[in-house]
Amino acid sequence: MITAKELREKYFEFFKKKEHALIPSASLVPENDPTILFTTAGMHPLVPYLMGQKHPSGKRIVNVQKCVRTGDIDDVGDTMHLTFFEMLGNWSLGDYFKKESIPWSWEFLVDELGIDPGKLYITVYEGDENVPRDDESIKIWQGLFKKASISAGVADSSSGGSMDDKLPGDMPRIFPLGREDNWWGPAGKTGPCGPDSEMFYDVGKDGCSDACCPGCSCGKYVEIWNNVFMEYNKKEDGTYEPLAQKNVDTGMGVERTVTILNGEDCVFESDTIRPVLDKVRELADQKSDESERIIADHIRSAAMIISDGVVPSNLDQGYVVRKLIRRAIRHARLIGISDMFCSKVALAVINIMRGQYPELKDNKDQIISEFDQEEEKFTKTLKKGLKKFKDLVSKEAMSDQAINGKDVFDLFQTYGFPLEMTREMADEHDLSVDEKGFYEEFNKHQELSRTATQGRFKGGLADNSEQTTKYHTTAHLMLAGLREVLGKHVQQKGSNITAERLRFDFSHPQKMTDNQICDVQDFVNDAIVSDYDVECEEMNVDEAKEKHAVGVFDSKYGDKVKVYTIGNLSKEICGGPHVERTGDMGEFKIIKEQPASAGVRRIRAVLE
Ligand code: GLY
Repeated sequence: MITAKELREKYFEFFKKKEHALIPSASLVPENDPTILFTTAGMHPLVPYLMGQKHPSGKRIVNVQKCVRTGDIDDVGDTMHLTFFEMLGNWSLGDYFKKESIPWSWEFLVDELGIDPGKLYITVYEGDENVPRDDESIKIWQGLFKKASISAGVADSSSGGSMDDKLPGDMPRIFPLGREDNWWGPAGKTGPCGPDSEMFYDVGKDGCSDACCPGCSCGKYVEIWNNVFMEYNKKEDGTYEPLAQKNVDTGMGVERTVTILNGEDCVFESDTIRPVLDKVRELADQKSDESERIIADHIRSAAMIISDGVVPSNLDQGYVVRKLIRRAIRHARLIGISDMFCSKVALAVINIMRGQYPELKDNKDQIISEFDQEEEKFTKTLKKGLKKFKDLVSKEAMSDQAINGKDVFDLFQTYGFPLEMTREMADEHDLSVDEKGFYEEFNKHQELSRTATQGRFKGGLADNSEQTTKYHTTAHLMLAGLREVLGKHVQQKGSNITAERLRFDFSHPQKMTDNQICDVQDFVNDAIVSDYDVECEEMNVDEAKEKHAVGVFDSKYGDKVKVYTIGNLSKEICGGPHVERTGDMGEFKIIKEQPASAGVRRIRAVLE
């Protein structure tokens, strides 16, 4: 048996011997990238260093990074998918490359972890019109297999079955695959990326077909590690240029590797999840692998995210946490957990994870209290909402239609059912939901935040409380102030509003000076003191353009848009809501001005 702790420690020790510096995991909430909600891979926090900035710890780094990926959330419940996981990585920031990285991976897997090399299979990048097949990696792998007296034929990439270079009767060992499988990055739309080579472990069961090979998702070949050879930069126009330096970014999923090494076939058996699952089982009256796993996974993710400072809300990361918790609650009710349970399960998460992530210890009370509040809130409406849903199902089943957008919105607004939860429930009854209608209804009733309209709708819905309304209006004034002080090139690049503060990203190439910050602050405070009316008019997009309203002219706004005008200072397309007058919003203060991403600055500001 190997534990997650033992695996991490072996990994760190191994790479420390190879002169790597151990750095702590970065937060799950990206500090410097407004385009993503969560850290989904080790590379995010390291992008500036992959691009050439000097890392304070040197050119060789080793770490374990907390990651959240919600893209496959619907698959959670099977044996392999998780929304939160830990990823071990070793990094060359313009230092070593393939000929060191690949043999070290072999050495760690075979010599340190004792994996039988006969069970290892490799994939490499098959090449395309711009980037050649990764023959260098193939050669290095073949040399390593040869030393272990294992023939390592290369599969013909077009057939997946025949080989360039193998003994008759041998299964190929190395599989060139395309971009879908063997290309990694960039983290956002642009940035460092490159081909990768992946290591698969054959768990020994039968393949799904004769063509089954690494890369197939049937579960015979499980990926345990990948080495990305990050030597390209993807540009705005979609083309690639060589990076100033060649990097290596490797990723080994802790839960998955522990599972495989222990001969298990389900990640929920790994020692950092099993106690969480056990807690769920202890509380449940009925057995359901799927619901138990969904609950364990979602509470685990939510606990880790809350520990990094996010609270359940209707906006961005907060909305993801809300969805995770509410889905877990619904599944808990399905398996007979009728009392408050979230914080009990969260405590199991804290206990098992706090050794590696000590912030969980410090944030324990906050985590427990957020779970309790969210569960209390949702429990109040869940029963009635489920009753309403049942009525809808019988109505819609009769008419054989999708559940209409107004009803889905009512479930959201009145009963707190996240859209995704309603969709899942509808699916269980072979019904679909009218998502377009839901969004239309949502737009009519509430604000579709600017960030959301820029493609992050899945992340969050706008929060509507009084204080956030004030911050929405403040954001308009601040954008006007920034354009006045810095110039008309300034455009809003994102915003994140909570009842406590406003975070605002905007395009501007340099750090703001202290004087500029003061001038923007004064501009906003003057506008507040002047007590302007905030006027709202509905018009079509062309009229809004004619009137020089700023904002995203995006079809998602629909034909008619709302334009909010504040005196002669600001005219913006926005869904609202806004205060009626600027007068009693409080005193505006910029707390921090910092870089967000290339050419984008971020301001944190409060109303006091
Ligand atoms: N090393 C790339 C990844 O798996 O995230």
